[in-house]
Amino acid sequence: MITLKEQITHAAELLCTGKVVAFPTETVYGLGADATNEVAVKKIFQLKGRPTYNPLIIHVDNVSQVSEYVTITPRTRIAEQFERLLPLWPGPLTVVFPEKKSTISSAASAGLPSVGIRIPSHPLAQALLQQTNRPIAAPSANISEYVSATTAQHVRDCFGDAVYVLDGGPSTVGIESTIIQLSEDGPATVLRPGFITREALENHLMEELSTRTEHKATHQVMTSPGQLKKHYSPNTPLYMFEKAEAVSLVEQTLGRRIGMITISDGLEFDSAHIMTVPLSQSRDQNDYAKNLYAAIRTLDKAGLELIFIEKPTNGPLREALLDRLNRATHQDTERPVYASRRDESIPKSL
Ligand code: TXA
Ligand code: MG
Repeated sequence: MITLKEQITHAAELLCTGKVVAFPTETVYGLGADATNEVAVKKIFQLKGRPTYNPLIIHVDNVSQVSEYVTITPRTRIAEQFERLLPLWPGPLTVVFPEKKSTISSAASAGLPSVGIRIPSHPLAQALLQQTNRPIAAPSANISEYVSATTAQHVRDCFGDAVYVLDGGPSTVGIESTIIQLSEDGPATVLRPGFITREALENHLMEELSTRTEHKATHQVMTSPGQLKKHYSPNTPLYMFEKAEAVSLVEQTLGRRIGMITISDGLEFDSAHIMTVPLSQSRDQNDYAKNLYAAIRTLDKAGLELIFIEKPTNGPLREALLDRLNRATHQDTERPVYASRRDESIPKSL
């Protein structure tokens, strides 16, 4: 049995010799490569089937490295905003700076002048980054557009033996980092909501954030996860539901094999055609985020016709959770169960 220390050393050696390695972070697993090595970074895009115009986040282990990879001119707005955000690092936050330095390969930044930097807090990610002592470009460790990976097994389910996976157990946050873009000209913008809320960011920055629409008008190239419509999607059609609809949903799907992902008590339906996965015992939003992708992946492998997921409750993570669910759920058609009920079960004469 090789020790964890040996596994980290092995992973670091692979990264330093231009290989791709999957590693745990507190948000989701990352598929990493040396960000200064163009050839290594291109392998990530190939493995994931990711469009080359979609930039990668650069991971470093501490704040002193940030200015090695991006331009932060003293006494500018960017410098001030960066200082104010420091207490949130290490953690589930990615900061996009307008000007990257040339050490970061242009494949990693997809040819953009800007670059997103993240300092993960997961102890294994920290150890790995310290040992490699170089910036690591890493998107989420899933096939492009599929659900992100929150366990080592999820990564293996996507890439088999093609990638070495450093196993750090299940990710504790469970959804991808909040992405904030800084600007010299005005307030920062949230490009992707996450565990670090808009409110927390505004408190640290001591000003209101701009909305994405305002932001779009001032920048010509804006490729962010939010703008890729389909994302995080399972193969089985997924629909959201509210607790009050649950019983009628179940009635209408009699005879069809369905999955239910729930947060409310009393929704464990005892029926051969329903598989239920509870996300939380106590309607806790942190549990919702932490268990979300594992639940979707489990049901997606179960050969079901449809999956229904209970909407998140109100609370600080609602924006981030709805952002992910709106992308993961089936948007093109109305829920088929409702359509078929209208057509078949309700007599026209009523
Ligand atoms: O939690 C996370 O952020 C995980 C872990 C592994 O760190 N990473 C992650 O990476 O979610 P990814 O590539 O799956 O999503 C990051 C998104 C990309 O889709 C990209 O559109 C956006 O961040 N992004 C990266 N650099 C950017 C930039 N310079 N400007 C705008 N968006 C950027
Ligand atoms: Mg991703």
